[in-house]
Amino acid sequence: MSDLAIAVTVNGIDYQAHVAPRMTLVDFLRDILRQTGTHVGCEHGICGACSVMFDGAPIRSCLMFAVQADGHDVMTVEGLAGEAGALGDIQDAFWECHAMQCGYCTPGMMIAAHALLETNASPTTEEIREAVSGNLCRCTGYTQIVEAVELAAERRRGAAGDRQ
Ligand code: FES
Ligand code: FES
Repeated sequence: MSDLAIAVTVNGIDYQAHVAPRMTLVDFLRDILRQTGTHVGCEHGICGACSVMFDGAPIRSCLMFAVQADGHDVMTVEGLAGEAGALGDIQDAFWECHAMQCGYCTPGMMIAAHALLETNASPTTEEIREAVSGNLCRCTGYTQIVEAVELAAERRRGAAGDRQ
């Protein structure tokens, strides 16, 4: 089957491309758009390394075809960065809490954290554990990841307070 035309917004930039119907969204993001922050792990929806935001909700980009993203909005871990490529608040909290070792799970963890904090500004430790429970980490034991999400949430609440 011949390639299909798609138009997709990724991290606020509009892209148009021709892709094979069988190309997954994660392969499109990495191989075509060179947004390589999104990782490929299990390729069947288990590990969460490929998580991205899709129209504002977290999804597994290994389980979608790129053609299904036609007309939609995607945010990858690169989209969490701050001004001029500085670390965003979640990225900075992960760095400060040493919430990674090999880093393979980290993009997916950050997307899970972002999805949680978008809907819950004051998550409990249990709610954070639940939010990242679909993302597998082989290295950290999760404790520092949970601490990082707590720190990011705390800082966001502080920033919101500062603006009042
Ligand atoms: S690579 Fe998509 S869930 Fe593991
Ligand atoms: S830091 Fe290695 S898999 Fe999570």
